[in-house]
Amino acid sequence: MDIQALQQRFIERYGVTEEPVRAFFAPGRVNLIGDHIDYNGGQVFPCAIEHGTAMLIRRSNDEMVKLASDNFDLMANLRQEELETKYDDHWINYPLGVLQQFHMAGIKIAGFECLYFGNLPSAAGLSSSAAIEVVTAFALNELYEANMDLPAIAVLCQKAENQFVGVQCGIMDQYAVAMGEKGHAMLLDCQTLECEQVPLSLQDYSFVLVNTNQRRELSESLYNERVQQTMEALRLLQGQHEIMQLAELKVSQLEACKHLFSAHPTEYKRALHVVEEQNRVVQAVAELKASNLKEFGRLMYASHDSLRDQYGVSSDPLNLLVDLTRDNPDVLGSRLTGAGFGGCTVNLVKKGAIDAFKKTISEPYQSATGLTATFLDFVPCQGVRELDLIAAPEVS
Ligand code: GLA
Repeated sequence: MDIQALQQRFIERYGVTEEPVRAFFAPGRVNLIGDHIDYNGGQVFPCAIEHGTAMLIRRSNDEMVKLASDNFDLMANLRQEELETKYDDHWINYPLGVLQQFHMAGIKIAGFECLYFGNLPSAAGLSSSAAIEVVTAFALNELYEANMDLPAIAVLCQKAENQFVGVQCGIMDQYAVAMGEKGHAMLLDCQTLECEQVPLSLQDYSFVLVNTNQRRELSESLYNERVQQTMEALRLLQGQHEIMQLAELKVSQLEACKHLFSAHPTEYKRALHVVEEQNRVVQAVAELKASNLKEFGRLMYASHDSLRDQYGVSSDPLNLLVDLTRDNPDVLGSRLTGAGFGGCTVNLVKKGAIDAFKKTISEPYQSATGLTATFLDFVPCQGVRELDLIAAPEVS
C-alpha cells in the first residue's frame, strides 16, 4: 500500500492547511477455527493479516465531516445533524456508526476530513467492514484524545455494527483487527474478552486463503437469522440449565435436552454446532501448541462440515473448494472462514506444494462453477496502528 501516494491524493482532494494530516491502518482478519460462536460466548482463534484499510485524516476548523474513499467515487460532506442518516448498503455507514457511538459516549467530534483506501477483497469474509470501523475509531480516539484502550475501541465498533449498520455480529472481527500481534493468532474468549496470543508456528506449512469470488446474497439477513436461532435455542435450554450463553453447555448436556427441541429441529442443529465448535477450538489450540498440525487440520475439516451441515452457512462454491483439497496429501486442513455464504476458505498447505495446490483448485473450480478462484498468502500481523507520513507540504 503506497501511503505517500495516498497522502498526495488527500492533498489534491482537500488542499493544504496548517493542520497536520495523520495516517492510520487497520488490517483484515482470518479466523482459523471457531466460526459462529463468538455471539454465543464461545472461544475463537483469529489473526490479523497485512491487507486492510488505511485512513488519512485531518481536523478542520468547521463542523463538517468529509468522508471519501479512494476505492469508490462517492464522497460525503455532512453537517453534524446529517450524521444520523443511514445510507443503503454503503461503506459510509461504518464510519457513521462509529461517530454515533462516540456521540453516545459523550465524546464531541467536530469537523474533519478523511480519505480511506482498502486493499482487502470486498465481501470475502475478511472483515473489511471491521477494518473501516476500527481504523476510524482508533484515529478519532487519537485526534480527540479520548483515551480509550484497544479492547474498548473494539467493543465500541461492535456496537456501531449492531446498532447503526444493523448486523448482530459478535466481537471477534473488531477485536482481532484491533488486537492482532505479528506472528500470533489469538485465542479469544468472547464472553470474558480474555485473550491469549498464541505463536503460530507452522513448521513446513503455511495458511493460504482461497476466495470463491461468489456474489454473496442476503448474507446480512441470513446472518441475523442464525443469531436469532441460537438465541431461541438458549431460551429453550435456560429452563433446564443455568447458562448465560450457549457455548457454556457441554455436548452431553445438550444431547440430554434434545426432547426440548422436538418442535425446533433447526435450532437444535445450530446449538449442536456451537457446543461442538467450542470444543474443537480448545482442542485445535492445544494441538497447535503441541506442534500436531495434522490434528489441527483434521479439526478444520470437521469445523467446515459442521458449518455446512449443522449451521447451514456454507455454499456450493465453498464446499467445492474444500472438497478439492480432501485427497491432497499436501493439505492438512481446509474450511470456510468467517460468516460464510461465500467468501474464502482457509487452507493449511505444505510450503513447497503451494503452487501445485493452486493448480489442483483453479481449473476444476472454474469449470464446475464458472467462477475464478483467487489466492492470498498471509502471515499474522499487528492490529490497528498509526503509520509514519512524510511531513505535510508547507502552507504557501
Ligand atoms: C462475521 C461476524 C463475526 C462472526 C463471524 C462468524 O464475521 O462479524 O462476529 O460471528 O461472522 O464466525
